[in-house]
Amino acid sequence: MFFKPTKPIIDRCESDATTRLRLKYAPYYHPIESATGMAVTVKGRPMVLMASNEYLGLSQHPRVVAATKQAIDRWGASSCGSRLANGSRAYHVELEEALAAFLGKPACHVTVAGYLACQVSLSSLAKRGDALLVDPSIHSSLWDGALLSGAKIERFAHNDMTSLATVLGQLEPKQAKLIVVDGVYSMEGHIAPLPELVDLADKYHAAVVVDEAHSVGILGRQGRGVCNQFGVTDRVDVIAGSFSKAFASTGGFVAGSREVIEYLRSNSRQIVFSAALGPAAAASALTSLTVMQEEPEHAERLWANYRHMRDILKTLGLDFWESPTPALPIVIGDQEKCYFMWKSLWEQGFFTVISVPPGVPIGKELIRCAVSALHTIEQLDRFGEALKIAMKRAGVRP
Ligand SMILES: Cc1ncc(COP(=O)(O)O)c(C=O)c1O
Repeated sequence: MFFKPTKPIIDRCESDATTRLRLKYAPYYHPIESATGMAVTVKGRPMVLMASNEYLGLSQHPRVVAATKQAIDRWGASSCGSRLANGSRAYHVELEEALAAFLGKPACHVTVAGYLACQVSLSSLAKRGDALLVDPSIHSSLWDGALLSGAKIERFAHNDMTSLATVLGQLEPKQAKLIVVDGVYSMEGHIAPLPELVDLADKYHAAVVVDEAHSVGILGRQGRGVCNQFGVTDRVDVIAGSFSKAFASTGGFVAGSREVIEYLRSNSRQIVFSAALGPAAAASALTSLTVMQEEPEHAERLWANYRHMRDILKTLGLDFWESPTPALPIVIGDQEKCYFMWKSLWEQGFFTVISVPPGVPIGKELIRCAVSALHTIEQLDRFGEALKIAMKRAGVRP
């Protein structure tokens, strides 16, 4: 008799109801066939990307593209190994030195993803017995790092420094503490109140990690980030971030004192046992870094687009969570309405992202939008018209 042994782990995946629904309706991973600026084609249909993190619009910038091609010609596709085992390449060192100088930190290490950079900033620094004070809205990469570290996790209310002071005050004075925040929160668009935060950190002898994935390139002098904007770079211990947003590349970075970076290079399993950032990604990140400093027009266009979009949302009476940054959420506060609103926008040719719990708190179901320097005013105005129609269809009132 033919006996088919079952594999419970695979069976569980293959029978998962959400997975089967996604296979049927394919609500994510839409294949984009072409992209020029924020104008894309999906299944032959022209659409406008309204959820890209390409804030400065540099992924097709001629200098960035040329440098990326040259890097491949010079170095090939990959170094195919970990830097501890196979050595660093000149492009790693050049990028790290430029970035450290830009951020105002003595040293920097680049990783293959911002996710890893954020994860190692917690998993390799904190230890069992330490206390991690986290804003619940931090990115998943930081959450994963926090969980991997084995440290005790203490939450404080989002962006609420009174709540942080209360939690700090309840801990033993001798307890080793680390405060973890995003510089700009990707879903809310909110900026962390760093001046008050570092005062509390100093008072309670807590170290501070800031994830600058969404703030570097757009805030601070020439895009040096939120720590630079508030003048607190020296009072923040570790700055982590990503090249996948304003830098228009892939990869990530962690910056701090020479000793902290060397410590991570020797102790972080994700750094020691994983292959290094490739030459193409390093070259595009480095060239974007140069462009950011030499061509202020990209940031100027980004902020003009931000103001235009914010005014449209205000006029429509939509709740954008008072976001002061180009990550502009549209809070609907109801899962079903949020879905219908997203669907109507999709049908009208606008590519947005729906975010529901646990990605956001219950009652804050939202459509994530982000403006880019590459959006045209005409695209933003058409999006405003589409929002009006979508609100009517979804029953969303101002
Ligand atoms: C706040 C934040 N941190 C870290 C990351 C991870 O960056 P990467 O895409 O480079 O892995 C992201 C990406 O979405 C992010 O939004």
